[in-house]
Amino acid sequence: MAAAQFVYRNLLRPILFRLDPETAHRATLAFLAALPALRRGGGGPGPLQTRLWHIDFANPIGLAAGLDKDGRALRAWQTMGFGFAEIGTITPRPQTGNERPRMWRLPEHRALINRLGFPSLGMDAVAPRLETFRRNPGRIKIGLNFGPNRITPVERVADDYVRLITRLGAHADFIVINVSSPNTPGLREWQAPQALARLLDRIIDARRMLAEQPALLIKLAPDLEAEMIAQICATAAERGAEGFVAGNTTLARAEFGLVDAPPGGLSGQPLMVRARALIETVYHATGGRLPIIGVGGISTAQDAWGHLRAGASLVEIYTGLIYEGPALVGVIKHDLMHLMQEGGWRSISEVTGSGVT
Ligand SMILES: Cc1cc2nc3c(=O)[nH]c(=O)nc-3n(C[C@H](O)[C@H](O)[C@H](O)COP(=O)(O)O)c2cc1C
Repeated sequence: MAAAQFVYRNLLRPILFRLDPETAHRATLAFLAALPALRRGGGGPGPLQTRLWHIDFANPIGLAAGLDKDGRALRAWQTMGFGFAEIGTITPRPQTGNERPRMWRLPEHRALINRLGFPSLGMDAVAPRLETFRRNPGRIKIGLNFGPNRITPVERVADDYVRLITRLGAHADFIVINVSSPNTPGLREWQAPQALARLLDRIIDARRMLAEQPALLIKLAPDLEAEMIAQICATAAERGAEGFVAGNTTLARAEFGLVDAPPGGLSGQPLMVRARALIETVYHATGGRLPIIGVGGISTAQDAWGHLRAGASLVEIYTGLIYEGPALVGVIKHDLMHLMQEGGWRSISEVTGSGVT
């Protein structure tokens, strides 16, 4: 175990876990945002480097959406060693999200439950942060995760995504269309193939207006039937999507013995098996042609390795960071390199899908 990880588990985590989860989150983010920019991070050339959608990722480990919703700590994610960070979900107008309490820790399950409902400063507040960062970007790549405002009527939801792409798309290496958060009523219905097709047509039109076109990914829920996933993948590919984030938090409870747990999206260790099944199903459905960012339950290099072997080209972490602290990124990269060397793997792309039968 890295010394920093030991310090986090035994010193910092007990203090943070005495605070309610949202206060701990805010305090940590404020601290990270105030850190001086360090040049470290991202990693030099090596076997973890990987190229997708014409983007060079220094390593395949990314920050999952939701931790830095407003782009407060962009430099800190680079310092922590991430190859990329997914910022958001960003909504067009500012909104406060659901009433508190809306976030819970389940330490014995190494899990979180949240029903935050997209608290966001709104795109106009996030834009200057992204502009400043893009002037001197460093090696970390930026994904922007977009969602509609809660009060937007269903017939105007596509307009919300269009506004987000028009306003912020130029600052992203890739954008993620979030149609899978369980905490915005009706949002997951946009995953249905017909609705998704209409939405994507508008989104692709909006993206076409940008001078440089970020890659376009769809974030899926892990609560979909395999047949539905196959239909979604076919529609998404046909309409011009270039990848998937698999996936979001789950509403499932019974299979984890958590029937009495609070409402909202469950993340962390219990989610891993479902996330992996989703990755594998998407990989099958697309014949491995559209890259997948695998996310759900990762807290070790073995977890990340499993997602890569199931078909992911990149992976992301959220809940694992809360339990293991910032040193986790370096530990996972170190152990991933070891796994690659041990097995004679020369590149991450070779590992992707290698476990799929
Ligand atoms: C507190 C919290 C807030 C989240 N907010 C978002 C969000 O705004 N947008 C989104 O697409 N995913 C959001 N997620 C989901 C994560 O990006 C990720 O898909 C999920 O947590 C599974 O990964 P993990 O097990 O590593 O946490 C959130 C997750 C948590 C725990």
